[in-house]
Amino acid sequence: MPHYELALNGERVAVEADEDTPLLYVLRGACGLRGPKFGCGLGQCGACTVLLDGDAVRSCVLPVSAIGALKVVTLEGLGNPRQPHPLQQAFIDEQAVQCGYCINGMVMTAAALLARTPRPTEAQVCAALENNLCRCGTHTRIVKAVLRAGSGRPAGVR
Ligand code: FES
Ligand code: FES
Repeated sequence: MPHYELALNGERVAVEADEDTPLLYVLRGACGLRGPKFGCGLGQCGACTVLLDGDAVRSCVLPVSAIGALKVVTLEGLGNPRQPHPLQQAFIDEQAVQCGYCINGMVMTAAALLARTPRPTEAQVCAALENNLCRCGTHTRIVKAVLRAGSGRPAGVR
């Protein structure tokens, strides 16, 4: 079975997988990570989003053989419960999570947005997240959380 060395969350991680194995399966399987979620498996919902050299990508449709030396960052690489990333803290502060299944994709997509546009408008946040699906319908709070994490938050949010 082919051998790959991933640049994952700041470490070199060796994995074995068939070349067409989706990156999501490798992350959740061999790497034991639980941030990226399996939703549709078709690139349509965003639950599996990770950062690839800073871009938000859907890991369910990305073969592990296509990663090469690109840097992969998952939700776990952003922060942890003891040291949450500002986005993670903002999602907590805004109580933006209901079932939580979509939140990985929302946070990772927002992280890519804030890296490019540290002070996004509400319209820019909505545009960035429009293809991330939330079945619970917490979109309003999710957008507020991203605005809170960025410096473009509305006056009075905190
Ligand atoms: Fe990857 Fe839905 S699980 S986009
Ligand atoms: Fe449940 Fe978004 S919080 S799918």
